[in-house]
Amino acid sequence: MAISNSVVALFVAAVSLHGGFSHAAPVSISSKDIGGVVTGEKGPEAGVWVIAETIVLPTKFTKIVVTDDKGQFVIPELPNANYQIWVRGYGLVDSPKVASRPGKLLKLKAVTAPSEKAAAEYYPGVYWYSLLEMPGKGEFPGTGDKGNGIAITMKTQNAWVDTVKNMCQSCHALGTKGMREVPEVFSKLGDSATAWAHRTQAGQAMPYMALALGSLGPEKTFSFFSKWTDRIAAGELPFAKPERPKGIERNAVYTMWDWASPKYYQHDAISTDKRNPRVNANGLIWGSPEESTDLVPTLDPIKHVAASVRHP
Ligand code: HEC
Repeated sequence: MAISNSVVALFVAAVSLHGGFSHAAPVSISSKDIGGVVTGEKGPEAGVWVIAETIVLPTKFTKIVVTDDKGQFVIPELPNANYQIWVRGYGLVDSPKVASRPGKLLKLKAVTAPSEKAAAEYYPGVYWYSLLEMPGKGEFPGTGDKGNGIAITMKTQNAWVDTVKNMCQSCHALGTKGMREVPEVFSKLGDSATAWAHRTQAGQAMPYMALALGSLGPEKTFSFFSKWTDRIAAGELPFAKPERPKGIERNAVYTMWDWASPKYYQHDAISTDKRNPRVNANGLIWGSPEESTDLVPTLDPIKHVAASVRHP
């Protein structure tokens, strides 16, 4: 479920960034592209993202590419607009934004993260999720609220892990910033387990979360999850560092549109049929807001226009 305030459609196209220019030659671009090179303290920065974003189109629009081993990049086929461009990557913090337009070549400076902590802010949620501890094998089967707090229907530690993965984690990635940090509105209500009890009951998905929490044993779950967020608040960092994209992972162009309403849930979006991805080429992208509204959000990926259709 999309739990952020805005809904983003993400399209990934595998294209070769090397087609138009050789490694030794400077980047060559068309009047629709922005290209250039990213360097850091130690020279070219390979495998970092270059992000172009604009708010002048009918939807907020972002295109992202990855630098090659020479730090070179091309952001292809941009709609005609002014863009903010910046560099993001593992080991870095976001570089200052530079204003530019299609047809320009840029020399961008990557900014090395001043600390491990600053770098870790950019790690995927799963790196933070892996710090979460769980009840030991010996605590299973659970003995209920009058016993160890684990539900009596939880027979094994595997069943616990499975519930966290397939219930909690199927709706939202647990290690993301919104999950690993407890907002003050909840933390001021008492100890951290109490804050967790409140934060999982504050929104429209509360009944589903109560179902998952009930099947684990709520008090026990709050104690484990709150210890996890306490350790993170105290400065604990992920055990491992993510690697930068390499090989064909660098041959990607990500296009994102910000569309639909922050008031409803957008659960899914569909543009075609995976059995025949030519269906509906360049057609509308349809959103699915589950039962949260009768309005079906649509996105025109060519004109960058978001609209909605009222469901009968
Ligand atoms: C059916 C989908 C669903 C399931 C299952 C689910 N959640 Fe959620 N969760 C949401 C949604 C949606 C939100 C956003 C707030 C809302 O709508 O209630 C949310 C919000 C949260 C928040 C953020 C609250 C804040 O601080 O703003 C936490 C923490 C959380 N969930 C933890 C859990 C845990 C732990 C589990 C498993 C025991 C779980 N959730 C199961 C959908 C789900």
